[in-house]
Parts: sequence; C-alpha cells; structure tokens
Amino acid sequence: MTDRPARPHLLVTGGAGFIGSAFVREILARRDGSRITVLDKLTYAGNEANLAPVRADPEQAARLTFVRGDIADTGTVEPLVAAADAIVNFAAESHVDRSILDPEAFLRTGVVGVHVLLDALRRETDRVAAGDRAAAPRLVQVSTDEVYGSIDEGRAGESDALAPRSPYAAAKAAGDLLARAYHVTYGSDVVITRGSNTYGPYQHPEKLIPLFVTNAIDDLPLPLYGDGLQRREWLAVNDHALAVEHVLWHGAAGEMYNIPGSAELPNREVVRRLLARLGKPWSLVRSVEDRPGHDRRYAMDGAKLAALGWRPRVPFEAGLAATVDWFVANEAWWRAVRTGAWEGYYERMYDTRLAASREA
Ligand code: NAD
Ligand code: DAU
Repeated sequence: MTDRPARPHLLVTGGAGFIGSAFVREILARRDGSRITVLDKLTYAGNEANLAPVRADPEQAARLTFVRGDIADTGTVEPLVAAADAIVNFAAESHVDRSILDPEAFLRTGVVGVHVLLDALRRETDRVAAGDRAAAPRLVQVSTDEVYGSIDEGRAGESDALAPRSPYAAAKAAGDLLARAYHVTYGSDVVITRGSNTYGPYQHPEKLIPLFVTNAIDDLPLPLYGDGLQRREWLAVNDHALAVEHVLWHGAAGEMYNIPGSAELPNREVVRRLLARLGKPWSLVRSVEDRPGHDRRYAMDGAKLAALGWRPRVPFEAGLAATVDWFVANEAWWRAVRTGAWEGYYERMYDTRLAASREA
C-alpha cells in the first residue's frame, strides 16, 4: 500500500498505446484533479489519436502533459520521475510475432528501458534518505501472464517459476526480475502486475481480435494459427487498467499480482463469437502455419489480487460485443493504422502463410 496524494501526478510511460491510453482516459475522465504526464516514444504502436477523447475536453486536456521520448533515455526519464508521485510503466514492444521476426527492440525497451526507469527511481529513494524529498514514488511494472510460459494444467501463481518462451516474454520476464531486484537491493518501491490477454477499443490491429474483426469487415481471410485450439484468458481493457490502478495504491511493495481475465477460451471460439457479432461467415477463416514456439495455454490464479479487493467487471460476452461494435463504428481510426508500414508487415507475416492456407 502507498499513500495516495489528494491530486496525484502520475508518470504514465507507454500512455499512447492500447492499455496505457485506456488507463489515462479512465483516470482523467474522473475529474478528481489527478494529473498525468505521458512519456511515449510513439513507435508504430503508439498513437496520439488514442488520447483524442482527453484532448477534446479542455478540463481533462489541461491535466495531461505529453512528452515524446524513450524510457531507455536517462536524460529524458530522470526529471520526469523526479516530478512524479508514482510511475506506471506500460511502455514495451508488445507483439509476440514481431518479437519472433525482430527481437532487438524488445530487449532495448524491456530490459534497458526498465533498468533506466528503475535507476531513476533509485535516485528518488536516495533523495528521500538525504531529506530532499518527502516520499519516494512507487513504480508499477506492467507485465504479462506470458512470463510463466505455456500452462498445460492448473493456473500459474505469483511465486511460480518464470518460463518465458518467446523473445517478447523473455524481455518481460527480465523486466520483472530487475524490478524485484531493485526492491530487494535498494529498497525501491516497486510492484508488478501480470495481466492476461487484453482486448477492447483502440487495440492495434496486429493482435488477434482487432485483426480478425477488421479483416472480416473487409471480407479478407482470417489467418488462424495451427489448429486454433490454443487457449487464452480474456480481460477487458478497462478492467486491466483499473486493476493496475488498484495495485498502484493498494499493492504491497516488492509483490507481484496476477490479473486474470473473465473467460478462458480457445481461439476458435473467440473467432466464432466475433464473426457472429459481425454477421460474417466462418468460411473467411483459414488455417495457416503456426507461430513458432506457440504457447498452448495461459491461465493464472487471481486469488492474491482478489484478496486485495479487485474483481473484473466486464463479462467477455458484453466486452467482445462492445469491442466489435467499436471497430465497426470507428473505421477511420483503424484504417489510418492499417496504412504505411502496416502493409509491409502484413505481407511479411501473412502472404506466404495465406498462400499455403487450408480450410479451418
Ligand atoms: P501497445 O503496443 O499497444 O503500446 C505500447 C506503447 O509503448 C506504445 O504507445 C509505444 O509507442 C510505447 N513504447 C514502446 N517502446 C517505448 C519506449 N522505449 N519508450 C517509450 N514508449 C515506448 O501495448 P499494450 O498492449 O498497450 O501493452 C501495454 C503493456 O501491457 C506492455 O508492457 C505489455 O507487455 C503489457 N501487457 C499487454 C497485454 C495485452 O494483451 N495487450 C497483456 C498483459 C500485459
Ligand atoms: O497474454 C498476454 C499477452 O497477450 C500480452 O502480454 C501480449 O502483449 C499480447 O500481444 C497478447 O499476446 P498473444 O500472443 O496471446 O496475443 P495475440 O493477439 O498475438 O494472439 C492471441 C492468440 O491468437 C494466440 O494464440 C495467437 C493467435 N493468433 C494471433 C494472430 C495475430 C492467430 O491465430 N492468428 C493471428 O493472426
């Protein structure tokens, strides 16, 4: 637990991405005086349009500062951390398939970037000891269920061994381990969240649900990896954002908290449901060559976070319907994202696979 100032000033890294921007929109819309500085590199996944609802409201816009920069850049990070009451680190390269094509950026942000944030936090802890600051900020390291690896049976608990199986997951696990090491070694106030597969408005169309919804709207083929029986736990983006905030103010320093979803489903079933919502046929789905090292199942035990008083609010049925409807109503947003570098990425990922695809 950490004391919440009446009007906290939060540094939100990766706040122009999918989950980070949901966190920013959620908190500023409450109009409780909270201020947020977003630090975002605006990679292909960062999108200032995700913060448009905040910008469109002068009262909220006045409490948002946007800084374009890299969490791996000490000169940028240190003054921002010094000015914050708390830091929430959403910044990461987040797509497993891209980590398989090109791992380096994942390590730079996930390992060096997290280290730079933690070092800036350590300086603040030292300033408290020197009497230059009243309380050191807390840092929430936003992590993932993928650090536990593929879970054949049962559910992963926070103290289970880490067994990441993709470069993305390995970089995230390294971030977790660094965060915990800084807590143990320097007494830094760090908490770690491990969220499950998240879905909702503003998600980049490289990910399963938005890719399949936007392809289906255009009657394009839907590339289902392998047999499509891989299982994921689905978590609504606002639930994820609120869980991170709950851990920020109520979690114990040095601890990890799983954030499970509200439904565990095989990919085929997710696809069947989104097609039903869109009124599109299953014949769009094509079975394509599997992702290398594809994790078969993720599943986490959420008892620790439940004991802290958090519950997911959005059932998957309602959340998926709202998400599909959002993509239908917001074509301008996703058509703009699916341009430029998107085309080369799509070709590289899917052209050969789709050429050799089979009925699903
Ligand atoms: P995203 O790819 O949509 O957004 C990531 C954001 O980070 C982008 O705005 C990007 O510009 C920014 N960024 C990347 N590198 C940066 C750097 N070096 N410095 C500053 N900003 C940088 O990702 P997301 O899906 O919103 O995921 C956010 C976090 O949540 C990630 O840490 C991810 O590992 C974690 N997570 C995601 C999910 C999920 O299902 N999407 C589930 C569990 C955990
Ligand atoms: O579990 C949490 C993780 O969820 C996060 O840490 C990651 O940042 C996030 O990207 C997500 O990872 P996944 O690899 O599970 O998500 P993705 O949307 O890429 O894939 C979901 C499932 O769908 C997975 O089993 C692979 C499959 N899939 C995905 C794509 C993009 C397909 O069958 N076809 C596809 O084209």
